[in-house]
Amino acid sequence: MIGFGEHTAEDRGVAGSNPASLILFLNSSHLILKVMSSTMVIGSQFGDEGKGKLVDCLAEQSDYVVRYQGGNNAGHTVVVKDKVFKLHLLPSGVVRKKRSLIGTGVSLDPRVLKQEIDGLKEKGIKVNLGIDPRCQIIMPWHNVIDIGKEEALKEKNIGTTRRGVGPCYADRASRIGIRFDDLVDEKRLKEKLDFNYPYYKNVCEKILNKHFDFTQEEVFKQYSALGKEFKEMLTDVSLEVNECLDKGKKVLFEGAQGTLLDNDFGTYPFVTSSHPTSGAATTGIGISPQKISERIIGIVKAYTTRVGSGPFPTEISGEEADFLRNAGNEFGTTTGRARRVGWLDLPMLRMSNRLNGFTEIAITKLDVLSGIKKLLIADYYLIEGKKFFDFPYANHLVAKAVPHYSEFKGFSINKEQQKELKEKGYSALDEHAKKYLEFIEKELNVPIKTVSFGAERDDTCSKDSKIC
Ligand code: GDP
Ligand code: IMO
Ligand code: MG
Repeated sequence: MIGFGEHTAEDRGVAGSNPASLILFLNSSHLILKVMSSTMVIGSQFGDEGKGKLVDCLAEQSDYVVRYQGGNNAGHTVVVKDKVFKLHLLPSGVVRKKRSLIGTGVSLDPRVLKQEIDGLKEKGIKVNLGIDPRCQIIMPWHNVIDIGKEEALKEKNIGTTRRGVGPCYADRASRIGIRFDDLVDEKRLKEKLDFNYPYYKNVCEKILNKHFDFTQEEVFKQYSALGKEFKEMLTDVSLEVNECLDKGKKVLFEGAQGTLLDNDFGTYPFVTSSHPTSGAATTGIGISPQKISERIIGIVKAYTTRVGSGPFPTEISGEEADFLRNAGNEFGTTTGRARRVGWLDLPMLRMSNRLNGFTEIAITKLDVLSGIKKLLIADYYLIEGKKFFDFPYANHLVAKAVPHYSEFKGFSINKEQQKELKEKGYSALDEHAKKYLEFIEKELNVPIKTVSFGAERDDTCSKDSKIC
């Protein structure tokens, strides 16, 4: 067995003379994931697909790992033997001690950043981080508004993570946001607070009936100290990423959330406030789409989960749901909430593929389906007697969708088989598991190149032993 990164230069053939499109051909490994100059990892469903795990795998061969949207509403898990890392804000590449960058599209809570950096330090990891000066900063009132708005919505609440991410992005759009560049300069921070603090105290107290339990001076003290601490990390991420790619360095872009939570194309209003799609990397970093379209990996969980409110056509309940939830440990990484669970949904994935342009798919958590006798995949919806192969554009249509299912025989992936999969790769998969995967591949017309069958780094195999 060859583990990640255990290949030698002799193992490789190199395709293409331009370093920016360097492709490694690995002769004998099932486990090494190929990283071209730019690789994107995108959540194809409602988030929690296992992006963190895949980013960690791919980061081994990357020079840089970049986050470009979302904030600490994300929860990306990386399991390395007995160590579990739950990353909310930092790119998952920090576990591999890679240069990590946070682009302008991220809403950044410096309080959480400090906790995360300190936590990693305790585990012996020194973070090499660059933060774009244009990043919007999450302030304490953003949490108050997030909670107040959810309460005001009553039973129509979104089920946000309450991390203040939505209100922070709202400030960017209404142009009163505080940026990282303001945080690191006491004078600029003070000027911003002189407007933002009284303004939001008024909004929170008069409209949302929420009281501030922090004074302006306290906020200034806490945030200016954080600004001082993180000042050295200020980096023009747009410039750095562009330069790296021009030099042929390998850059990995880590999406957060999932496509169905997209602020425009998701199940609005039950969505997040950013764009978890591949296109958002251009604006969330400051880079041309020409430079980053090479490899776009759609992370597809072998079934579907959702945390929070909103439509979910293939949702299941009862004993079957409990089995899946427990087998997959489907409890939120950020909030600990039990995730809703359901069957794999192709109309959802077709839209996801259309929006993101996946060049390949990585299937995750295939092991979780092990032992279920009959598996279902929704291949289309019936809405008022009409077939819908793509996810409808509005919730009032989704509400009427009756999924049409194809049935598949169950399979098993036990400890013994996991060992075999690690050694022999995709070919060792149960025939019924292969049929399940081949159906997805055929329907989406995108190759499945990676299969994850456990939470640990090396519980991963590749279909194409030549290039993976
Ligand atoms: P992310 O937000 O997309 O990074 O996903 P999360 O980390 O929130 O949730 C995925 C969960 O599944 C984490 O607990 C991972 O450790 C775990 N996980 C990832 N891949 C696999 C897999 O193939 N099998 C199993 N059983 N667990 C996995
Ligand atoms: P990762 O990166 C799953 C969901 C919330 C809620 C909606 C809006 O770990 O996949 P927000 O706090 O963003 O305003 O909440 O979006 N949500 C996620 N669900 N995984 C995530 O991130 C999520 N980030 C936000 O549960 O329904
Ligand atoms: Mg998550």
